[in-house]
Amino acid sequence: MEQILDVISNYVSEAFESAGYDRELGKVTVSNRPDLCEYQCNGAMAGAKRYHKAPLEIAEDVAQVLCGCDALESVEAVRPGFLNLKLSPEFLSLYLEEMAADERLGVPNAEKSKTIIIDYGGANVAKPLHVGHLRSAVIGESIKRILRFLGNETIGDVHLGDWGLQMGLIITELRHRKPDLVYFDSSYEGTYPEEAPFTISELEEIYPAASARSKEDEAYKKEALEATNELQHGNRGYHALWEHILRVSIADLKKNYDNLDVSFELWMKESDAQPYIPDLVEYLKKEGYAHTDQGALVVDVEEEGDTKKIPPCMILKSDGASLYNTTDLATIVMRMEKWKPDEIIYVVDKRQDLYFTQVFRCARKTKLVEDETGLYFLGFGTMNGKDGKPYKTREGGVMRLENLIAEINEEMYQKIMENHEADPEEARKTAQIVALSAIKYGDLSNQASKDYIFDIDKFTSFEGNTGPYLLYTMVRIKSILRRYAEQTGRSAEDLSGLKILPPAGESEKALGLTLTAFAPAVLLAGEELAPHKICGYIYELANQFNRFYHETRILSEEKEAQRDSYIALLHLCLRVMECGISLLGFSAPEKM
Ligand code: ARG
Repeated sequence: MEQILDVISNYVSEAFESAGYDRELGKVTVSNRPDLCEYQCNGAMAGAKRYHKAPLEIAEDVAQVLCGCDALESVEAVRPGFLNLKLSPEFLSLYLEEMAADERLGVPNAEKSKTIIIDYGGANVAKPLHVGHLRSAVIGESIKRILRFLGNETIGDVHLGDWGLQMGLIITELRHRKPDLVYFDSSYEGTYPEEAPFTISELEEIYPAASARSKEDEAYKKEALEATNELQHGNRGYHALWEHILRVSIADLKKNYDNLDVSFELWMKESDAQPYIPDLVEYLKKEGYAHTDQGALVVDVEEEGDTKKIPPCMILKSDGASLYNTTDLATIVMRMEKWKPDEIIYVVDKRQDLYFTQVFRCARKTKLVEDETGLYFLGFGTMNGKDGKPYKTREGGVMRLENLIAEINEEMYQKIMENHEADPEEARKTAQIVALSAIKYGDLSNQASKDYIFDIDKFTSFEGNTGPYLLYTMVRIKSILRRYAEQTGRSAEDLSGLKILPPAGESEKALGLTLTAFAPAVLLAGEELAPHKICGYIYELANQFNRFYHETRILSEEKEAQRDSYIALLHLCLRVMECGISLLGFSAPEKM
């Protein structure tokens, strides 16, 4: 269905034309003076020079023609030459009916569907998932859902870190602790045990221990580097251990991501790109893109006009080892070969900005991607505590994601139990749903690139710009719809077919107008990769609904057609909110 701004622009353009002016001048926008009007057109100002006329005169000419337009309730030409417009209630109700009849609630599909890989999550195997990884998961998931809803083919790839020094560290620490394990017996030729020689909790304790020790103990660090190298060059026992580490760790990661309602189409790992490296290196050398600098193989990526120095992209270290860079470039080769994406979007900490500039430039310069292929870096800021420093536990340690989620679940549970008598088991389930909205909305409602303060009290509040407030509003609507269904014997699931009447009051009209702004909000969020635009929209919608709700007797309305119309409006409002929050990555409970 057509966007409401396009419909109105079209009327206004026609009016410009019939008044003798260029129809291009008739573009309409949402008013920036909502106290005066709902929409505005500034075309008369733009036309003044061309037609050697005062803008107001042009605006008046156009207004005269527009007066007969059924879609508009009022048209005013005001100084210096604005056209101030208000929609007619009849037109609004027809538009809302059309929206309600549309499965997609008026949101158009992309003109051309693209294949888009979203690289997010980025957890590192065998390291506990901490809050730093939360943002990538939450933002990436939302971006993916938005782009998918807009009709693109989206592929989420978790791109696990499984190939670096952390692996060598774990192997080394295990060797120190359990030297008798068969994996360390170089003469062993049989098959290795199926069961891992550690549990996930051991594994999570091993990495920090090994990492700490390597910072103090040079010999230990050397050993870990050596183990990394051997793993990468096919040591059988290490490889078998590495497989155990992956299996145990991935099972745990999946559980964590599941709890966040975050899912990936691909569980690719850094190691999956390794087979592409030899050919890549060969190609870069043969085509003359790479050169040797102090023993290392590098590609220059400086460009004219750079205001700061962009260091070369290092492909191989002087000892021949590959790097994070190399893996990312090889991953691009793999992705182009397997999925031929039109775009790849990386949702990663913004401190990796320079790094991705190097990688993207290198990939373009060396033609690993086609000119049209989009490479985008969506860098996010740090999640801080109330003290403005990176979020920590009460004791000052690194906060594990699992614990953070548990803490918020508990907080939500307490709140729900405080509010009213609830069945504890049901309250637990509801608490989980609401807690997820608190975490995700708290994050997504900020512009991704900014740092933000993770404030549990604020995020879990039922009032203000929070996830729980949105859910609370939705639950309120659901409850009205349920009572309506009881009253009328209809099913609450199917309230379609109710007629939306032209709004009688101001808050009803404001709610209707806000509903029509759903499609533009989603389109903008998709264009700018900005979930916060959807957050801002749904918050506004919730506020408009609550204003209407407080001013209107809905179920006790005596005129049946009027009551049914309110219900249809509420139902549409709920559907828009449901669609909106599903794009953000959470859902609403039935009660709370
Ligand atoms: N594992 C990395 C980290 O924890 C993030 C990976 C981001 N994605 C990528 N293609 N480099 O920093």
